[in-house]
Amino acid sequence: MALDRQLLQSIIAEFTVNSEELQEIAANFRQDMKLGLSDPKDSSLRMLKSYVGLPTGKETGEYLALDFGGTNVRVSRIKLSGAGRFEVIKKVGKPLILPGEYDYVGAGSTAVEMFDFLADLIDEAIDRDHETKYYLGHTFSFPSDQTDLYNAKLIIWTKEFATAGVEGKVVNDLLKEALARKDLNNVEPVSVINDTVAVLLSAAYQHSDTYIGSIYATGQNNCYLESSIHDPENVGVGGMILNLESGGFMKLTPNRFDKEYDENSEKPGEQRLEKMVSGRYLGELFGMALAELFEEKGTKYNFTSIDISSILMDDSVDGDRIAAVIKDKTDKDVDSEEAKKIRDLATAIVVRSARIVTAAFVGIIWQRTGSGKINKQHIAVDGSVYEKMPLVKENINKALSELLGAEAANVTTMLDTGGSGLGAAISAAMAANHAKE
Ligand code: BGC
Repeated sequence: MALDRQLLQSIIAEFTVNSEELQEIAANFRQDMKLGLSDPKDSSLRMLKSYVGLPTGKETGEYLALDFGGTNVRVSRIKLSGAGRFEVIKKVGKPLILPGEYDYVGAGSTAVEMFDFLADLIDEAIDRDHETKYYLGHTFSFPSDQTDLYNAKLIIWTKEFATAGVEGKVVNDLLKEALARKDLNNVEPVSVINDTVAVLLSAAYQHSDTYIGSIYATGQNNCYLESSIHDPENVGVGGMILNLESGGFMKLTPNRFDKEYDENSEKPGEQRLEKMVSGRYLGELFGMALAELFEEKGTKYNFTSIDISSILMDDSVDGDRIAAVIKDKTDKDVDSEEAKKIRDLATAIVVRSARIVTAAFVGIIWQRTGSGKINKQHIAVDGSVYEKMPLVKENINKALSELLGAEAANVTTMLDTGGSGLGAAISAAMAANHAKE
C-alpha cells in the first residue's frame, strides 16, 4: 500500500503549531486567566476555587486517600510524618471498566452503582475494619463548584464519563450515602480536591518553589497558587489554589480532525484544549488521520495513547513494532517506508500536544510573575503522557525555551508520581487541623 506523501505532509501541517502560534496561545491563555480572575463568565477558563492553599509541611497523621478520576480508582492509607515525609501503608485499586464484567462510567451506569463500588474499595483499603475512625481526602478529577473544602458539586463530566445522577450533585454526599449503605460510618470524607490541586499539594509538601500543579494523562489540566485570594473558608497558606480547568480553554485553532472528533464526542463544544492534547484523545485523532491516509476516511480505528507510545518507541529501520501495531488495529500490512510515515504522523500529534500544554504553563507563569523576573520554580506534573510518552518532555523543554528564552533555565517540570493520592491525604490533614483550630 503506498501512502500518499503529499496528503501526509498536509495532515502533518494541520497538526503543527509554529513558534508564532505558540506565543499566541500562551498570551491568550494568560489573557483568559486575567479575565477569569475578574469575572469567570468572560473567560473560557473556569478558574475554580479550591478553598485550599499550600500545606505548611507540618501535616501529620494517618489518612485515607481516594483517588478517582481516570481509568483506575485507587484508595490508599497514608501516614504523614511532617517535613515532607510520608508512608503509603496500604494501597488498593481497580479499573472502572472491566469489559464483559462491569462498567461504571458508561451511559448505562448510575451514581449509586459507581459510589457503592468506591465504598467497597475503601472497605478493602481499611481491611474491613468498621471501628477505627478514618478521615478521608478525596481527589475528584472533574470540574467541580466548591463552597469550601468539603462541598464540591460536579459541574459536568469530562473524559467521556457519562454515569447518570452525578452531575450537579455534591460528590462527597454521594460518597457518604454509599459509605452508610455499606456500614462504613467510621470513614468520614472531609475534603475534595481536583487532581491538579493534589499534585501541587503533594509537591509543595516535599519541595519549595512549586506553585503550579498539572495532570497530563487521560485528561489534561493545571492549577496554580493565586496569592491575591484570601477567603475565611480557605485552609492552608500563601493564598488559594485555583483549578483552571485548562482543558476547557477555547482560544485555539482546532483542525478538521479535532472538529470532527468533537462533534461526535460525549460533550460536543466542551474541553476543546483537552481533546487536542490528552491521552484519552491522542489515539483517536491518530486513528482518524490514518484512516484518511489509508483512503478510508470515516473508518473508526481503535488506537490508544499506548499504541502511539509503541509506535514512537520504534525507531528501527524496518519499523517492525510499528507494523505490528498497525496490523493489530487495522489488519493492514505496512512496509518499512510506510511505517516511517506513520511514525511521522504520530510524532506530529504528540509534539502538538506537548507544545499546547507548555503554552498553557507559560501563560500561567506570565500571569503569576506579572512584569517582574521569572523566579526559579518547579511545575509539578503527574500523568502517564508526561511520564511515559516519548518526545513529550523534550518538546516541553524546547517550547519553554522558545517562549521564555534564557529565563527558561529557571523553570523545570518535575514528575510527581502518586501525587493524586498523597495530595488527598494532605488535604484531609489540612481539613482536620482546620476543624480543630
Ligand atoms: C478534568 C479535570 C482534571 C483533568 C485531569 C479533566 O478532564 O476536567 O478536572 O483535572 O481531566 O484528570
